[in-house]
Amino acid sequence: MIGTGYVGLVSGVCFSDLGNDVICVDKDLNKIKQLNNGNIPIYEPGLEELVIKNFKNKRLKFSNDLKNSVKNSDIIFICVGTPTKKGGSSADLSQIYKVANEIGKSINKFKIVVTKSTVPVTSGDKIEKILLKNISKKKFSVVSNPEFLREGEAIRDFNYPDRIVIGTENKRSNKMLKNLYSPIISKGAKYINVSRRAAELIKYSSNAFLATKISFINEIANLCEKTNINVDDISIGIGLDQRIGSRFLRAGPAYGGSCFPKDTKAITVTGDIFKTNLSIIKSVIRSNENRSNLLLKRVYEICKNKIKKKRICFLGVTFKANTDDMRDSSSLKMIPELSKKGAIINYYDPTGPKKEFNRYKNVEYIDSSKNCIQKSDLIIIHTEWNEFKSINFKKLFKNKKKIIYDMRNLYSTKKMKDLGLRYFSIGRSD
Ligand SMILES: NC(=O)c1ccc[n+]([C@@H]2O[C@H](COP(=O)([O-])OP(=O)(O)OC[C@H]3O[C@@H](n4cnc5c(N)ncnc54)[C@H](O)[C@@H]3O)[C@@H](O)[C@H]2O)c1
Repeated sequence: MIGTGYVGLVSGVCFSDLGNDVICVDKDLNKIKQLNNGNIPIYEPGLEELVIKNFKNKRLKFSNDLKNSVKNSDIIFICVGTPTKKGGSSADLSQIYKVANEIGKSINKFKIVVTKSTVPVTSGDKIEKILLKNISKKKFSVVSNPEFLREGEAIRDFNYPDRIVIGTENKRSNKMLKNLYSPIISKGAKYINVSRRAAELIKYSSNAFLATKISFINEIANLCEKTNINVDDISIGIGLDQRIGSRFLRAGPAYGGSCFPKDTKAITVTGDIFKTNLSIIKSVIRSNENRSNLLLKRVYEICKNKIKKKRICFLGVTFKANTDDMRDSSSLKMIPELSKKGAIINYYDPTGPKKEFNRYKNVEYIDSSKNCIQKSDLIIIHTEWNEFKSINFKKLFKNKKKIIYDMRNLYSTKKMKDLGLRYFSIGRSD
């Protein structure tokens, strides 16, 4: 596995747990050192036990030595990052191409080079060209095997995926990969073999579709707020239609994370390159970018535009629960904006303080949700961690007038009103 991040580490550990010998490679010396000392660089439930177990069994190794790791492997998975290019919308593939160059210089016998990273259509063709600079066509096959795991559920998702997509026209590679995945296929995962370009596009289309579902229900929530309707009823009412499905229909803040924002942008660039206007996805991106402004506007309304010196608490700042990933989290837009307007921000996150907020004055990490709530006038529930689902606000408020803005609809409006609390939420009448 080349790139030992959320995808490479989880996939590497899970493959080793299935009985394979795995080397996880990363250029980050500190990360490899940490892993070799039994410390896990990311927060992912269940990961630590699995790493320690397989490391002790010697089926799992961590290394900085890409060359020898490639030489000693039959299948090479590229799992490096493909972030948005600085100042643009397209995917920055520099990490992919760098790794492809290094692989090309290290191949000694036939290898399957698999891209697990999310890469735009035709990237496999480019990787193939890079490899051809140093080795003959007979010595390798480039395959696309996009990853669909979700942070926070990554181990379960890896072992019980809805489907495994293998993009290759090479029979030998298909057979070897089907064999590698056979323990997962035998547990019920569907295995599909398509062309390499189709596999690349399946990943982007999936993410764009899921992002569309989220933005769709968020816009319906806006309408619900104006028409005295509970958006949760709409989610249930439409989600029960099997053609629609109930997942990814929970209204909330703007979607974030390391995938949806960058992948929606990148696929529209691919569309433009191939002279195809992906207007629906473009409109989803606009809708999502506007979402944080809309929620901020609501915060101002709730505070009657008195933001200066207002003590605001954020419960959770990551883009979703059960991860420490801050990439494109909506808190990164909202907290700096409120701080700029003079609010005093306290935040608590179960995965600890975040360096992203160090440079803002008036933004402080508080080490418990209780203290965070007690120090604040407005409590914003930003992330849906379980530990925020049963808070006794009444007791913590101690008769002080405080306001709750629940951006995840974790509480019942009626129950909160019955308790005499000032409670606002998403897509529900106040
Ligand atoms: N995070 C997710 O939930 C998720 C899910 C599905 C797909 N993906 C895709 O998988 C890819 C990886 O995502 P991630 O979240 O794991 O990224 P990440 O940033 O957590 O990890 C990438 C790792 O690659 C390493 N790396 C970069 N260049 C290297 C090189 N030359 N040699 C060795 N290591 C190198 C980095 O040091 C880093 O540790 C992306 O394309 C992403 O879109 C991510």
